[in-house]
Amino acid sequence: MCGIVGIVGTETVTARLIDGLKRLEYRGYDSAGVAVLNGSGLKRARAKGKIVALIDELSDNPIDGPAGIAHTRWATHGEPNIANAHPHFAGKVGVVHNGIIENYQDIRAELSHRTFTSETDTEVIAHLMDEALEAGQSSKDAFAATLKKLRGAYALALMVDDGQNEIYAARAGSPLAIGIGDGEMYLGSDALALAQLSRELIYLEEGDWAVLSPKGFQVYDQNDKAVKRDVTVITAGMGASEKGDYDHYMLKEIYEQPITVNATLKNYLAERDQFGDIAQKLDFNSVDRLVLTACGTACYAAEVAKYWFEQYAGLAVDVDIASEFRYRHPVLSPNSQFIAVSQSGETADTLAALRYCKDAGLKTAALVNVMTSTMAREADMAMPLNAGPEIGVASTKAFTSQLTALASLALLAAVQRGKLSGEDAEKQMQNLGALSLLVSTALEQDTHIKKLAKDLSVAKSAFFLGRGAMVPIAFEGALKLKEISYIHAEGYAAGELKHGPIALIEKDTPVIVVAPHDRLFEKTVSNMQEVAARGARIFLFTDSEGHKEAGHMAFASVAMPAADPFIAPIIQSIGMQLLAYHTAVTLGTDVDQPRNLAKSVTVE
Ligand code: F6R
Repeated sequence: MCGIVGIVGTETVTARLIDGLKRLEYRGYDSAGVAVLNGSGLKRARAKGKIVALIDELSDNPIDGPAGIAHTRWATHGEPNIANAHPHFAGKVGVVHNGIIENYQDIRAELSHRTFTSETDTEVIAHLMDEALEAGQSSKDAFAATLKKLRGAYALALMVDDGQNEIYAARAGSPLAIGIGDGEMYLGSDALALAQLSRELIYLEEGDWAVLSPKGFQVYDQNDKAVKRDVTVITAGMGASEKGDYDHYMLKEIYEQPITVNATLKNYLAERDQFGDIAQKLDFNSVDRLVLTACGTACYAAEVAKYWFEQYAGLAVDVDIASEFRYRHPVLSPNSQFIAVSQSGETADTLAALRYCKDAGLKTAALVNVMTSTMAREADMAMPLNAGPEIGVASTKAFTSQLTALASLALLAAVQRGKLSGEDAEKQMQNLGALSLLVSTALEQDTHIKKLAKDLSVAKSAFFLGRGAMVPIAFEGALKLKEISYIHAEGYAAGELKHGPIALIEKDTPVIVVAPHDRLFEKTVSNMQEVAARGARIFLFTDSEGHKEAGHMAFASVAMPAADPFIAPIIQSIGMQLLAYHTAVTLGTDVDQPRNLAKSVTVE
């Protein structure tokens, strides 16, 4: 949510800042801007919309210099227009910011003698700092004093026209990393932003701030004490991935899943059907409850896992939407295992839930795709998804990797708690081992699903139904459809429909029913008939057995590969992804960067 890049050195920086911004565009794309510091002071270029608009602006009005900061915005305060685009300037100061300054109105009131040119919360930072400079403080002291006045979440990069070639940086709540170079220093919201610049990163800790110059950097803690922070060396695989021959990152990521589920699995199941080292560090036998917290798609993965842990391991599971979790005063037993589930490892609410549980004395783990993320660093234990960079804003491969990891952990719990015989455990491990092949087979339904998407694309609203572990898959199907096609969609437990929502069913309302041929199949089919009797247009996602039995009752039926009920949710989710993708493509929406969204939600 908002991306920041900064470079300070001796060579020109604008082109490289733009390159870094392109890698961060998934974090927000309402507007973008860049500021440089050169012999004639601070200069900036800003544009509404995506980074291409900023590139156009720069080609008309080029700016460059040996130091610069750049930003891609996801609007919180103030509509996405040029005036609200970062960098914000006040006097000698230019700043870019990711996060929310919660007390910005109070600061604005205090600084009412100053002229504000935007509606943003960010602009107060530049004014506060400029006031301190005007009062005679050095840039460094002014920066430290400014930070003390800010409340809220921020990652920020700031430059001062003071004759020094420096960038000031700070982190409180939103991630920020320093990249170490040779005669140059870098700043970035994440490793992806810095992929072409540096592999040696320092992740600022909560309350840290830093001064960067071409020769080096110094980090200070929240008490302004100079501190040393560890250097993380980033492996080559963490660079931004390319789209290749695919039309969209999302499609590429959907097609990567036969590989990514295996990459995930390798961490949790070792050779000869033994659990891997990572999984073995967890002891589900010594806990009486599992607390899973996440947002959006990651939360639906956690919801599926609840079915697994309860059914196979007999372990009680609470799943919470992270944004609700800490504010509802959950009753937590210290004898619980907490797992934060997150692709980015930076989602503000999930991170807050993790910290809350850590403070409450729970054992904490973070299941994340970005192993350098804040959650990975702060949890007692970090568990990787290994899905590789996910660039499409709508999560696909991270979801199936989350499911794969959680399924492995549920099996481990079942074995540790003596709920599954060695033979049954081995059978389920084999099912997981066959996952990659089944995901490949599921992708063969692509052409068929593409045709169905044409029918779905004319709808204004759609329902997704499922039972058991297919309920969260129905939720996920609805979420995927609404976020990239902008068609209103709701996921429901099939049995719940007649308690109200069935009133919305009328002739040709699309109802997507996710029902593999399992023990709940007949019940789901009954619910399907109830809506079909009211004119609904049924799109049945099932398997060959289900297709044979109930395909004729549906407007269209998709036979996904038959799978053991244990892994069927993972297989059925592929159908949901393809349906949403093709519907969005039919409608011509911006699939990889849907309106109003950002990939990494680092504000509450
Ligand atoms: C939807 C989607 C989001 C994320 C959610 C959590 O396709 O991607 O719902 O799942 O914002 O993000 P992470 O997993 O990074 O915590």
